[in-house]
Order: sequence, then C-alpha cells, then structure tokens
Amino acid sequence: MNYQIQSFAEYEEIYKYSIENPEAFWAEVAGHFQWQKPWDTVLNWNFKDPNIKWFEGGKLNITENCLDRHLESLGNKTALIWEPNDPNEPSRNLTYKQLHTEVCRFANVLKNNGAKKGDRICIYMPMVLELAIAVLACARIGAIHSVVFGGFSAQSISDRIQDAQCNMVITSDGAFRGAKQIPLKPIIDEALKTCPSVDKVIVLARTKSAVNMTADRDVWWHNEIAKVNSNCPAEITDAEDLLFILYTSGSTGKPKGVVHTCGGYMVYAGYTFSNVFQYQPDEIFFCTADIGWVTGHSYIIYGPLANGATSLMFEGVPNFPDAGRLWDIVGKHQVNILYTAPTAIRSLMQAGHHYVENKNLSSLTKLGSVGEPINEEAWHWYQDNIGHKDCPIADTWWQTETGGIMISPIAGITPTKPCYAMLPLPGIQPVLVDEKGEEILGNDVSGNLCIKFPWPGILRTTYGDHERCRTNYFAAYPNLYFTGDGCLRDADGHYRITGRVDDVLNVSGHRIGTAEVENAIDMHHGLVETAVVGYPHDIKGQGIYAYAICLEPPEDENKLRAEILAIVTKEIGAFAKPDKIQFVNGLPKTRSGKIMRRILRKIAEGEFENIGDVTTLLDPAVVEEIKAGRLDR
Ligand code: WT7
Repeated sequence: MNYQIQSFAEYEEIYKYSIENPEAFWAEVAGHFQWQKPWDTVLNWNFKDPNIKWFEGGKLNITENCLDRHLESLGNKTALIWEPNDPNEPSRNLTYKQLHTEVCRFANVLKNNGAKKGDRICIYMPMVLELAIAVLACARIGAIHSVVFGGFSAQSISDRIQDAQCNMVITSDGAFRGAKQIPLKPIIDEALKTCPSVDKVIVLARTKSAVNMTADRDVWWHNEIAKVNSNCPAEITDAEDLLFILYTSGSTGKPKGVVHTCGGYMVYAGYTFSNVFQYQPDEIFFCTADIGWVTGHSYIIYGPLANGATSLMFEGVPNFPDAGRLWDIVGKHQVNILYTAPTAIRSLMQAGHHYVENKNLSSLTKLGSVGEPINEEAWHWYQDNIGHKDCPIADTWWQTETGGIMISPIAGITPTKPCYAMLPLPGIQPVLVDEKGEEILGNDVSGNLCIKFPWPGILRTTYGDHERCRTNYFAAYPNLYFTGDGCLRDADGHYRITGRVDDVLNVSGHRIGTAEVENAIDMHHGLVETAVVGYPHDIKGQGIYAYAICLEPPEDENKLRAEILAIVTKEIGAFAKPDKIQFVNGLPKTRSGKIMRRILRKIAEGEFENIGDVTTLLDPAVVEEIKAGRLDR
C-alpha cells in the first residue's frame, strides 16, 4: 500500500509532479500492480477522435490482481462479507482463497457453456456473492461483462443486450428487496423474446420461486457448478482489451454503453480506492451501492479487491426492516469505512433520531458520499450522528465515464468542507469553461466542468458507436473532456459540483435522461407531446416533473396518470416514474419549435418571478396557463 499519500504536503507535492509528469506519475502507480508483461507505451492520446490508450503492450488479468496475487499473504483474510436482505438469515464471508476458488469454478462454468474471450455477457442479479463471483469470472476468461441493475425493466434489458450483442445472460430466479420479492428470471424471459443473440442463460436459485426453464438455453448455476473443478488459469488480456460495458443515460436517445478497458481501469480503481479512503490492512469497507452501477463495480469489487481489502456487500435496502439497518450492519460487522449516497443519508435522517440512537457506530473511522450533491444539513448530520464528529467525509465526485473518483478529499489527509468535493486527485486536471469554451482561470469562479488531460480510468468509447462518444463528451469544447456538470471553484481553489447542466436528471443518485422518460411517456396513445424536467426534492435530490399534452381532455386525470406511470415502469423501470404529471394545452416553445425547458424548470420549482423573457415564445400565453396549473404537491 505504499502508493498511499501520507500528508497534505505530500499531496501537494505529488499533485504538482503528476501534472508536470503525468506519464511518469501513472507509470509509477501502475507499477504497484501485477503485469504479465510490462507496457511499451504509457499513454497515447488525443481528445479529438477521441483516441485514448493507456499502458499499450501491457498484458495482465485483473482477477490475478484482485485474487491470485493476494493468496500467499492474505489467503485467509476475508475478501467479501455478505449481509443478507433478511437480518435473520446468516451473513456469509469469503476469504481470498475461497473467492479465488469460486471465481475459478464459475469461470469454468462459463467456458463449459460456450463463453470465450471477447464475448459480451449480460448480468442481471441481486446483490448476492454470486453476482461478484460472476463479474470476476467474466474478467477471468476475458469476457466483457455488462451488468444491468436489477431495477431495470425487460425493455431496458433487451435494449442493452441487443446493443452489446450479448450471447449469454447470468441471472437468478428472483431477488429479495426489503419486504418484497422481485422476479428476475421472468423479466429476462420477456427481454429475451427480442434478443436472438443470446443462446445461454445461467440461473442462480436465490428466492426458490418457480421459474420456467427453456430447454437448450437455460441452465441452473448449482447444476453447472457441480460439473467443474477450480483450476482455471487467468486468460491474459491486453491493457486495452475491453473489461466491461456499463450503460448510462445521456441527454439524448437511448442509454449508451460506456466502455472501460482492463489495464487503465484496474490502475485507476485500485489507486483511488487506496488513497481516497486511506484503506488500512485490517479495515472493513462498506459501500452501499448496487453492483449494477459503476460505484459498485469500482468500490465493492475491483478497487477493494485490487488492494487486498475486506469489502462488505449488502443485499437489501437501508430502510428494511427499519431505518436503522445500515447502522446495525456497521455495528454487526464492525465496519470502519462507510461509503453511501446523499439520498440514503437524507432519508435516514428524516426517519428520526431514534434509529441512530444506541447504535454501535464506534468502529467507523472514515465516511464517503457519492452520486449527487450533498446538502449542508445532510453533510453535518452524517458527520455528527454517524461519524461521531470525528470521521472525515470524502464527498467524492466522479461519473460512470471516469471509472473512479476524480475530485474528492483524501480522508483525513486533505481538507473537507460541507458540499464541496474539494480538490482533484493527483493526475486529474479539472478546468472550468464558459459558454464559449474559454477556460475560466483564477478562483472564485464558476462554469462548466471539463478535464483537460486523460487519466487511466477515462472511458474509451461508447460501445458500437464511437461517434456518439465523440459528440457527447469531446465535441462541446475542443481538446477537453466535458463532464456535463456545472461547478464552482471558491476563493481557496476548492471545487463544488453544482449539478448537471445538460438534460440529465439525478434522482436518488440514479442517472436518468429527460429524453428517455419523454420517449417512454410519449408511447401512450392518448398523449401528443411531453416535456420532462427535474425539480429539487428533499430526499431524492431531484424529482421528475412531467408536462403532457393530451389528444383530448382526459376524462379521469388520475387514471391517465396511472397509465403513464405503468408505461414508464415498463419501458425503463419503476425508479424513473415521474413524481408529478401536469396536463397542459401547450408547451413553451421558441419560434423554431424548441421547448424552453428553463421555463418549465422554473415553474416546477415554483419560481414564478425568475422566469425571464417569454416574448420570444411562439405563444407566450401558455406560460400563464402552465403556472396556473402547477402541481405543488
Ligand atoms: C453524475 C454521475 C459517481 C458514481 C455514481 C454516479 C453526479 C456524482 C457527485 C458528487 C455532486 C455528483 C454528477 C455526475 N455526482 N458524484 N460527489 N457531488 N454530484 O455515477 O450515474 O455516472 O452519475 O452524478 O452530476 O455527473 P453516474
């Protein structure tokens, strides 16, 4: 762990070095990992195409770094702790040796079922140990995993499978989530009706619910695992071979498949985990994210395991059986580092103080926050009540596209301040730009957040559509990676992320494109047009406000609303359901037909005074009508 920064002075020194000598800096970091063959070239890049290659010529397998290399020294150390949904079900631990064995066995199952290097494999599973095993087994054989969060609908899964042309799916019969039991296999069956590329489905029995098994296609995990041994040498991959695809929403169209590659992603996830959380050898790290999102990929699986850490994964939800569950887990497993999302913090804060009182939280030494801006009240509550006033909070800013944490305090080493992600990690060069793309220099300024030099964890492409990657991230401002976030840099040079500046919503830390929700709603035959915007929500950070024009005045507005919610659930997933649906006769449009979302956002927020100039609208009268019909509850 000697690549850990030890002091603020050292951070400043290393930061400076990393900017002046980025390639030498990253080569040193990469030297802490195990390579079958060292790289020939540290970095080859341009942001124009874009073309970004790290550690070219290097050969490795990420699972050798996460498992094999720890066997001798840490073989009996716990790699993964699993806490079940039901607190009365026993938790399970896997040591590094056991996890290695399980991964090798399941990798052999994959091979027996026809999977090979370069194949795309879709994983749709609950938060059970087998999910981590499946992910690592794909990496072991050089197959590319595409994990789809368990809350997505059949339609969303089908879109993702077709886009990546997956030939295999790994799933389970169902999932336990709080008091609910959710079917997963029936959803996969539905999705696969439109996915001819898939010829094999491996099904884990988790809930033991009855499922249909399609002959010659579907096999049971337990039957297959009984046929194999645990000898599975790691497939050697090139540094720039694909490790995984993870779909994420943008401001337009369907979600895009963000591509990460083996070498750079490994180095970046490993380095950031060790540094940001200042992981110490005996600590227990608990990231509450789902492995279906990038946070789970980088900070439940790859980052912790690359560092020989103990990582806790939780199957359930923070409010089951009650709002004290996360605190119970911290006490039960003596968690030292807790990494969670502002939405969870806000909802547990609101549930009432008695859920934290008398909980044993003394083991905690460091806290993390991720996924959305954390408001001051939640930050203080987290620090005072969970971190017993002496745990540093790392408010970590990053994205699916960045692979790992970019701007964040280094826990206990660099300063913190509520609402601020603070300073870039070594190797990261953030810049703020104005509308014209001019860099805004100096402090006490705000603008759009871009990054001007590559880092090993940067996305390489969007799967099957490189042009989309270029236009989305590299075309707005020449030679810069554009994050989509607004940001301010205070008088001390500290960064505060203020939220998306594009049409992307962040609802409870879930990223949702307004266009995606609109396209789903528009599928209702009774509607002519829809516009969706975000508005501030006390718990979820942002709520979804939809304005819809009906073909004919609805007889029963609530019935129509229920139908719209059902369509969104079917097309995307229940988490993307609008909170409010207002029926309107028209939308504010410019003369060229562009919807003025700024106006709709202001109305949704109830900010009638600051709506601004409406004279350029095709029909300014619609604004008054929409204001009058605003739903404030
Ligand atoms: C977007 C990325 C980062 C992994 C989980 C979400 C927002 C993320 C913060 C933070 C303020 C944040 C940004 C970003 N975001 N972390 N600490 N403070 N905003 O990954 O789904 O790719 O979403 O989440 O808007 O662009 P994601």
